[in-house]
Amino acid sequence: MKMEEVQGVRVREYNKEKDREAVEEMESRCELGLQGKPSISTDLMGDPTCRIRHSPSYTMMVAEYGEEKEIVGVIRGCIKTVTRGKKTMTSCPIYAKVAYILGLRVLPTYRRLGIGRMLVEKLEEWCKKEGAQYAYMATDCTNEASINLFTLKCAYVKFRSPTVLVQPVHAHSKPIGPGITIVRLALQLAESIYRQVFTNSEFFPEDINVILSKKLNLGTFMALPKGTLQKWDPKSGNLPPCFAILSVWNSKEVFKLQVKGVSALKYALCVGSRILDAWMPWLRIPSIPDVFRPFGVYSLYGLHMEGGKGASRLMKSLCAFAHNMASDDPGCGALVAEVGRMDPVREAVPHWRRFSWIEDLWCMKKLSTVEDEDETCGVPNWITSRPSSSVIFFDPRDF
Ligand SMILES: CC(C)(COP(=O)(O)OP(=O)(O)OC[C@H]1O[C@@H](n2cnc3c(N)ncnc32)[C@H](O)[C@@H]1OP(=O)(O)O)[C@@H](O)C(=O)NCCC(=O)NCCS
Repeated sequence: MKMEEVQGVRVREYNKEKDREAVEEMESRCELGLQGKPSISTDLMGDPTCRIRHSPSYTMMVAEYGEEKEIVGVIRGCIKTVTRGKKTMTSCPIYAKVAYILGLRVLPTYRRLGIGRMLVEKLEEWCKKEGAQYAYMATDCTNEASINLFTLKCAYVKFRSPTVLVQPVHAHSKPIGPGITIVRLALQLAESIYRQVFTNSEFFPEDINVILSKKLNLGTFMALPKGTLQKWDPKSGNLPPCFAILSVWNSKEVFKLQVKGVSALKYALCVGSRILDAWMPWLRIPSIPDVFRPFGVYSLYGLHMEGGKGASRLMKSLCAFAHNMASDDPGCGALVAEVGRMDPVREAVPHWRRFSWIEDLWCMKKLSTVEDEDETCGVPNWITSRPSSSVIFFDPRDF
């Protein structure tokens, strides 16, 4: 029955010149929220590949139906090499080539016909050809359709559940803690610190230097207790005893979001809070930005802290610093960070619970059925082995 219904559907690679408008139209029809419920729409700013085009290798596929060749589904994927934790006997990191599957959509009127599955399978074929050992996807833990499709039909397993922390950008500036210095790090220094502190984490990209040198990267910043900077010699290769570090990625130039369908009362409250906050910034009213018009976000990534309880204060100040950068950039409505559920930085990053996904769900699949080189050398299958670190590196290109 299902096979007959999928007949007439062809999956092929996206063609920038031919398909752009049809894909945009199709994706806007997928975003219609439930009647009367608020929803978030995404503006891809004229380029449906905007969320993948910064990765070393990527593709986008469309499903077309019938003689009219109507585009009824779309999927994206990108491939990169990342750490998958450390070797059990040594502290050396193990790398894996992974495919990240994202932006899967099927037009509401064509759902439950097997098109979603067909798109995933075609994308997996491409991933295998590109040499990816694993494929993973991320979804909201309440997205039953997506979770069922991947786990029940495509043999993915529930793998990790990091947390997405969202902080609105207020009209007032946030204070930096007293006795704290914040410095911008040069690219090479940022890279060498990241390679040192994240080497045993999961999903740390081998091409971190490429990410850090992109125009979208607004900088890497370190917070230290005042007076420490003079005593620290970065050339020694040692890290300061107490510090926090993060980088800021300008996702605002990649896509825009917009909240639709809120009640008139909620809208008025949000606008009112913003006006009051702008007039009286010293009151530090936790105002809501204008999310009812297209707004951008800054992604915080590479968050790490060391040095006991003081480090948490440093991280909070660093986040306040990033907030102030965002509030100086018109149209930036929120700061977003994704961190491992047990990562200690999770408690230090300010966020609004109502806007945060406390459980994002990542599902993963091993693509090759044969043992890969690592396994023949005694390295266990990533999916079935216990994580060697609570830290998951969030690649800002994937947001
Ligand atoms: C998720 C989505 C892509 C599925 O597309 P689809 O073409 O309907 O999927 P398929 O027809 O291939 O479904 C395959 C299986 O997925 C599961 N599934 C799909 N939709 C489901 C639903 N609404 N509820 C529960 N399970 C569902 C079922 O197990 C289904 O098999 P079955 O029909 O034999 O029961 C589609 O619902 C969609 O576009 N959703 C909005 C965007 C989204 O959430 N994307 C995923 C982001 S990772």
